[in-house]
Amino acid sequence: MGGCFSVAGTLLRTCEVMTCKLLFVCLGNICRSPSAEAIMNSLIEQKGLTQQISCDSAGTGAYHVGSPPDRRMTAAAKVQGIDLGGKARQFNSTDFEQFDLILAMDQENYRNILLPDAAKAYRHKVFLMCDFCTRHPDREVPDPYYGGAEGFNYVIDLLKDACEGLLDKIVGDRVLVGD
Ligand code: 4NP
Repeated sequence: MGGCFSVAGTLLRTCEVMTCKLLFVCLGNICRSPSAEAIMNSLIEQKGLTQQISCDSAGTGAYHVGSPPDRRMTAAAKVQGIDLGGKARQFNSTDFEQFDLILAMDQENYRNILLPDAAKAYRHKVFLMCDFCTRHPDREVPDPYYGGAEGFNYVIDLLKDACEGLLDKIVGDRVLVGD
């Protein structure tokens, strides 16, 4: 798991392809990861990079498979002009091949993502989302599910910081030209 130096190095190796496919992963895929996906899609659109970078999200757990994003998370995102969509799905080991970068919201997600990768073949693709924060000191995106509205608002703040940092890193490591 990286500090800034190894994060930069690994991104250079994993994103040398023409397009970059990002997968955001939390536990349920109804709060944090669909928010990360929507925030990143909004930034990608603003920068005219929709042909170069694509996003998806998934959960390590199966409890909410098929469900839309949590209504409290949807409301907190909406206040910031972000529309959440999609239906929850569970992370599976075929995602290791399908995606260039896999962003875990917390340490538990990180460990569970890597459980099927006993040979450590895909470890270089998996990062903690907060590795890319530049304004927040947090190491994890906290699970807001059992808390109040302020927790959902904080998730949005933190994810904006992390998504901006991640996009800057991807653009900086590769020569991407917007539309
Ligand atoms: P997420 O939040 O992992 O950010 O989607 C959660 C959603 C559901 C549960 C926990 C966290 N749950 O325990 O059902």
